[in-house]
This record gives sequence, structure tokens and C-alpha cells, in this order.
Amino acid sequence: MILISSFNNYKKLMKIAIMGEIHPDGWEVLKKSNFECFEIKNFEANNLKEELSQVEGIILRTANLEGNILDHCKNLKIISRHGVGYDNIDINYLNKNNIALGITSTSNAVSVAEHVLTCFLYLTKNIHLSDKFTRDGKFNDKGDLPNFFELFRKNVVIFGFGRIGKAVAKRCLGFDSNVYVFDPFVSEKIIKELGCAPIDKIDGLKIADYISLHLPLNTKTKNFISKKEFSLMKKTTIIVNTARGGIIDENYLYKALIENKILGAGLDVFNKEPPDKVNPLFKLSNVILSPHNAALTLECRKRMAVESAENIKFFFKDKNKLNLNNIVNKLELEI
Ligand SMILES: NC(=O)c1ccc[n+]([C@@H]2O[C@H](COP(=O)([O-])OP(=O)(O)OC[C@H]3O[C@@H](n4cnc5c(N)ncnc54)[C@H](O)[C@@H]3O)[C@@H](O)[C@H]2O)c1
Repeated sequence: MILISSFNNYKKLMKIAIMGEIHPDGWEVLKKSNFECFEIKNFEANNLKEELSQVEGIILRTANLEGNILDHCKNLKIISRHGVGYDNIDINYLNKNNIALGITSTSNAVSVAEHVLTCFLYLTKNIHLSDKFTRDGKFNDKGDLPNFFELFRKNVVIFGFGRIGKAVAKRCLGFDSNVYVFDPFVSEKIIKELGCAPIDKIDGLKIADYISLHLPLNTKTKNFISKKEFSLMKKTTIIVNTARGGIIDENYLYKALIENKILGAGLDVFNKEPPDKVNPLFKLSNVILSPHNAALTLECRKRMAVESAENIKFFFKDKNKLNLNNIVNKLELEI
């Protein structure tokens, strides 16, 4: 008896690295499932090579993990993204080396969709100017405020109709907007069943009062909105990008805004993150910015921490409970 229990005590626990801070609820999941988990705060290459050398799983926030680092992770079986985008990882490397990639597919959509609506309303209602007028004693000068607008019966055009695009559509339909969708990979039937109308890219750009982008960033979607696209938009168009920097060409966005070719823009994501302090967009008043935190409501942080930890728990300890929609490269891995 004594021998067995001491053997169990010394049985090595699987090591899981948590790259970046996650909500304590996620730690709880891993600890209760008997993993040895530790947080990595220093993302310099040499430190990563050392700290990751023995791990079997990684929870990854936004740091880049390149193949030259992963080459040092001989025991690695799964990377679980705390989020849904995975442009910070070399998926081809993972496929070649039979490493699973998890995402938190059920966690993010609501938080990001609410952020999009916040940007739409902020840019439309000029609420910050009304607030300033009221505080400054200009109550009776309200006629001097610029026009502000409604979402009611306006054309909202959504590019990318996946989890977040659908959540944005649902909320805009609640405002009685006309919601149009461009997504060549989603059937017209599904788009219509969800109360929206399919539209092609050019027509969508021409009729949009509001545009929201929900595409992945890849070679085909890089600069998806650039010079030509801005030239098609109405002067009253508001565009919001919570997807990935690089999908909008920031130089042409700046030109469109400064030349009043469109009304305003909301950006949660940037070409380069963190963006340079001297980014010219920061000087414009018809832009609302946020530091890539559309998915970081407290509720969403908890959900992402738990879901990314559960991906690891179920992957190693109970494959039947693993949400297969969360494993991006399941075909190659034959789970
Ligand atoms: N700002 C944040 O905090 C935050 C949080 C979560 C996700 N994101 C980003 O939001 C985006 C959407 O996430 P999601 O969970 O909805 O992804 P998703 O995979 O569910 O949906 C993406 C959709 O884009 C469509 N698509 C792909 N290429 C297209 C193209 N060329 N034209 C039109 N449609 C195209 C796909 O068919 C799919 O329906 C991703 O870029 C993701 O990285 C950002």
C-alpha cells in the first residue's frame, strides 16, 4: 500500500504552460484535473525554448509562437488558444508535427458583437459631444451639435458570417436595420433563414450605412478594404473592424476619413499591435479606438479561460467530451 501511494505521489503530472494571464477559473479547471500548470510572462525566444521544453500543452493568448520555438517542445500535443483567431501560430507546422490546435469557439461572439454595436452607436449618436455640451452649460445650444442618426432601417453590411458576424446581425435586426451579408462560404439559405439578405461585395459597399468586418486575416483578405472599396462607400458610411488589423488598409482608411469620404470608423485591431503612438488615425475625432479588447469583458474572459482549459483537459483525459468544433485541425489529427 505504502509503495503504491508513494508511487502515485511521485507520478509525473502533465505540464501545461499558460502563456499570458488568464482568469483564475481556467486555472481551477486544470488544477482540479491534476495538471501541473505554470504561467509564462517572458516571451523572449530563449526563455520560451527553455520553459516550454517539457510541456505537453500550452494555453496561448496573443503571443506569437513560431516553428523555431516549437522545435524545442518535443512533448507538445496541443496548443489551446484563448480566443478564436490563430494567425499567431504556424498551423502548417502544427499539422506536420501532429499537434492539435484548440480555440474557444463558444466564448467570444457576444462580447465582440456588443463591442461592434457600441462603436456603431458611439459614432452615430455623437453622445460624447452631447455630454460635453451639457457639462459646459451649452444646454440651449444643442442645435449647434452635428447631425446624429439612427440604426432603424439603415443598411448594415456584414462581411464574414461566422460566429461573430451572426451575433452582430442578430443585434442589428433588433434595431430594425436591414442586414446584408457577404460571405461566399455560407449558403444563401442560411443567410435568409437568419433574417438577412445575401449581397455581393461591391453592392454591399455601395449601399452600406454601417459596415462590420468579421473575416479571418489571410492572404486573400489582406487589404480586403482598400482604395477601391473606400471609393465605393457613401459619405455617411461608418466602418468597424473588430476582426484583424490588415483587413482594412489603414493608409486608405486615414485618407477616406480625413477627406470626409466616409463618416467614421471604429477600430479594435491594428496593422501593427501595439500600434505606433504616432499613428495618424489617433488624431482624428471621427474614429473610436480600443486596444484589441472587444472580447475581454469579464464574462468573456472567464468563458475563454474555462473553455481553453477544458480543451486541454478533455483532449488528454476525456476525448468524448471534447468539443470537436474547437479543434481546428481535427482532420489531420483523426480525433
Ligand atoms: N477583436 C477581438 O477581440 C476578436 C475576438 C474574437 C475574434 N476576432 C476575430 O474576428 C474574426 C471573426 O471571428 P469568428 O469567430 O466569427 O470567425 P468564424 O470562423 O466563425 O467566421 C469567419 C467567417 O468569415 C468567412 N470568410 C472567410 N473568408 C472570407 C472572405 N474572403 N469573404 C467573406 N467572408 C469570408 C468565413 O466563411 C466565416 O463564415 C476573426 O478574424 C477573429 O480573429 C477578434
